[in-house]
Amino acid sequence: MGEDGGGAFEIVTREDYSDVTYMLEVRHPQMAKAAQAGQFVIVMEHEHGERIPLTIADFDPERGTVTLVVQAVGKTTKEMQQRCREGTTLYAVVGPMGIPSHIGGAKKVLCVGGGLGVAPVYPQARAYARSGAKVIGVLGFRNKDVMFWEDRFRAVCDELIVCTDDGSAGIKGLVTKGMEQALAAHPDIDECVAIGPPVMMKACAEVTRPRGIRTIVSLNPVMVDGTGMCGGCRVKIADGIKFACVDGPDFDAHQVDFDDLMARLARFKPAEAEAMKKWEESCRMKGGDASAAERY
Ligand SMILES: Cc1cc2nc3c(=O)[nH]c(=O)nc-3n(C[C@H](O)[C@H](O)[C@H](O)COP(=O)(O)OP(=O)(O)OC[C@H]3O[C@@H](n4cnc5c(N)ncnc54)[C@H](O)[C@@H]3O)c2cc1C
Ligand code: FES
Repeated sequence: MGEDGGGAFEIVTREDYSDVTYMLEVRHPQMAKAAQAGQFVIVMEHEHGERIPLTIADFDPERGTVTLVVQAVGKTTKEMQQRCREGTTLYAVVGPMGIPSHIGGAKKVLCVGGGLGVAPVYPQARAYARSGAKVIGVLGFRNKDVMFWEDRFRAVCDELIVCTDDGSAGIKGLVTKGMEQALAAHPDIDECVAIGPPVMMKACAEVTRPRGIRTIVSLNPVMVDGTGMCGGCRVKIADGIKFACVDGPDFDAHQVDFDDLMARLARFKPAEAEAMKKWEESCRMKGGDASAAERY
């Protein structure tokens, strides 16, 4: 393995959950042993590829694998959607990074995942269940067709509420509706973990704030080096500044300045759109069709 973690990490399983969401199970025995809930890796698909942070959505020391669930949103994640197949390899998988989630002495925990956020909340739900806590899961998806991992959650949750925007599965509505239902049935819930888009996490924080329930969110600001040096992933927490790569990515939801996080994410959009345009043009020049990648 090179100093940059470069080697050959075989993809042993790939599954597609929708046009844009895919799962890669990657052989990496050392990482599978070391990983803990809440941590992430930095991945390079090929030697000259961009370094992208991805949450360790599952890890299995016996199989010697870690599982990543990826949403194709831009150049690198779309390129990976096209190229990563069972039997192909990832050039670098560096980590585990970030502070592991604090699984303390909570007795009843609400684990909320929205969209892609369902994947990173899974290892936390499992860790709480293993610690002896009762786990109530709330999963939110746009519709039934893009749902994934209901089976994994049923195996670790004492109760599971599925919500879809269009009502095609479970209750019709956002995860906050599922949370209200869970909290009405279980007023003794003493901790909550919520992972999803910033706007969802902000809304979840407002459900638990008046009830005084400790709530943890996992933040995904743009990361560059992942070492606390570049300042790219700075987030405003209460009155201070933290770096999500080394101080997080888990933070107290009631202390996070979500508006600042969303404003910072929006600032990178023009550069990302430009990179995407260039990649699509180069795909067309090579005779490929970038949009074909989106149809897998
Ligand atoms: C701790 C952490 C864990 C993450 N876990 C996952 C995961 O499990 N699955 C998943 O699909 N995505 C995850 N992300 C987001 C993922 O890193 C980005 O979607 C990816 O880097 C986008 O790269 P791109 O070239 O495809 O898209 P781009 O066009 O470059 O960007 C698209 C969007 O992705 C985000 N993004 C871009 N570059 C970065 C970067 N270097 N770091 C963080 N976000 C970026 C921005 O919000 C941006 O608007 C995570 C991010 C962080 C910080
Ligand atoms: S990614 Fe550079 S400081 Fe966190």
